[in-house]
Amino acid sequence: MSTSSSDSQTLPLRVVAARWESESITSYELARADGGELPAWEPGAHVDVHLPSGTVRQYSLCGDPTDTSRYRIAVLELPAGRGGSVEVHRELRPGRVIPIGRPRSNFVLAEADRYVFVAGGIGITPMLPMIREVQRRGGTWELVYGARTVEHFAFVRELDPSAVQLVPQDTHGHLDLESVVASSSGAAVYCCGPTPLMDALVERMSRAGRGDDLHLERFAAAAPVVGSSGEFEVELARSEKVVPVRPDQTVLEAVRDAGIDHPSSCEMGICGSCEVKVLGGDVDHRDDLLTESERAQCNSMMICVSRACGARLVLDL
Ligand code: FES
Repeated sequence: MSTSSSDSQTLPLRVVAARWESESITSYELARADGGELPAWEPGAHVDVHLPSGTVRQYSLCGDPTDTSRYRIAVLELPAGRGGSVEVHRELRPGRVIPIGRPRSNFVLAEADRYVFVAGGIGITPMLPMIREVQRRGGTWELVYGARTVEHFAFVRELDPSAVQLVPQDTHGHLDLESVVASSSGAAVYCCGPTPLMDALVERMSRAGRGDDLHLERFAAAAPVVGSSGEFEVELARSEKVVPVRPDQTVLEAVRDAGIDHPSSCEMGICGSCEVKVLGGDVDHRDDLLTESERAQCNSMMICVSRACGARLVLDL
């Protein structure tokens, strides 16, 4: 899901298992060469995988957070994609050592009595540890899981079949999102999958006045970020600088041009590593992370994609 990373905090991990999970999906288990413990993570976390070509991709951790000896990721091979998934399938053989970033999370399990998980294809991966955590807390959950055909459903054997509704697209069509919205009243709804699925669910949940009940994990930006709303300025309060942001530039680029080193990873508004506190001004939020109410409060922004509504923003940088 990502293209590049400035995160230098990686661990050299060995691929200790690679397993076919379903049509085009392989899972990989990664462990320290010395057998030591790995950094802890919460359900919903992802890691950067630094591939031999220099490409960096982010994958959700889909193993068991209580097992600190290994991470598990799963990757859908997309021959027509940007190349990362094909490289993973080609290079991540058991025995190979590969740099892996520390777990990060923007997809946190909120407190709720009931959870409805909606997964499309490889979007099942972040749901697995979340479901395990809900079960551990004694909560109730259900999963609506769509895939191209029955052969494309992965990890189903790990889940309680009585709580899972499988919807193969070739025989049953698309997920019935109207019924997901209607039947999830009072529940926290978590969705991960293709952009059209998530956009459609956002639209339906918003229409039902339940935008804040919906939590998303995107594997690609909702829409390409092109152009801008015009030129504006960012005042960097701590650095005491005022920096112009050109229409063809992101705030992140302008900040870096001003000599300020700021972290980023996905640069598509989907990972949260560039988040900055907003001290003044209105933000044109273009990320896929903040909820509707967080956007309205405008306490922070993702400077890799979001812009100003007005002439100036004041940032805590
Ligand atoms: S770098 Fe990922 S959200 Fe900005």
